[in-house]
Amino acid sequence: MSDAKAAPVEVSFEPMQREDLEWVASQDKVLYPFPWTTGNFADSMEAGYSCWRMSEGGVSVGYAVLMMVIDEAHILNISVTRACQGRGLGRRLLDHLARVAWQAGARQLLLEVRPSNAAALALYETRGFAVIGRRKGYYPTPGGREDAIVMRLTLEDGIDDATA
Ligand SMILES: CC(C)(COP(=O)(O)OP(=O)(O)OC[C@H]1O[C@@H](n2cnc3c(N)ncnc32)[C@H](O)[C@@H]1OP(=O)(O)O)[C@@H](O)C(=O)NCCC(=O)NCCS
Repeated sequence: MSDAKAAPVEVSFEPMQREDLEWVASQDKVLYPFPWTTGNFADSMEAGYSCWRMSEGGVSVGYAVLMMVIDEAHILNISVTRACQGRGLGRRLLDHLARVAWQAGARQLLLEVRPSNAAALALYETRGFAVIGRRKGYYPTPGGREDAIVMRLTLEDGIDDATA
């Protein structure tokens, strides 16, 4: 493990603001083959989804969108800027979403992920997500369609402390 990875990561989480949208959408373009548009993020904010920007030392390093459906929370987007990946920030962002979901009354955290997204799959598995299904041809690819793996984490009492 490198020193950079071992160092404690000081991050903060701020609710996404309209002035963040251009930056967020520009990052999404870099990170995903089929990115969300500024409008998609704006619509998520408008719909009342839980939208977050993560900063490290005042610099934006990630963002996420969480949708609450009664006692379930769905992660619609979770992203760390390319230059900052592999330093534990994705884990911090995921833990933040789990805390937010718990505090809002959710007892399950759900998400979809591409089978080809090894980094994301590994992150979710290490945080205790289990595979609960597969949606056929859910995602577009340059050559056609790709399935989605559906994953679920059961949130438990004490998550506020466990993931702080
Ligand atoms: C997926 C993503 C959020 C992970 O964030 P990250 O900051 O790079 O991940 P972390 O450094 O917190 O890693 C946490 C764990 O994830 C796994 N992981 C992260 N990157 C990995 C990689 N490239 N290969 C394999 N496993 C990886 C490891 O298990 C790691 O634990 P470890 O450090 O103890 O080995 C980030 O890669 C990303 O934003 N990717 C592009 C957008 C995306 O695909 N989002 C997910 C959509 S479902």
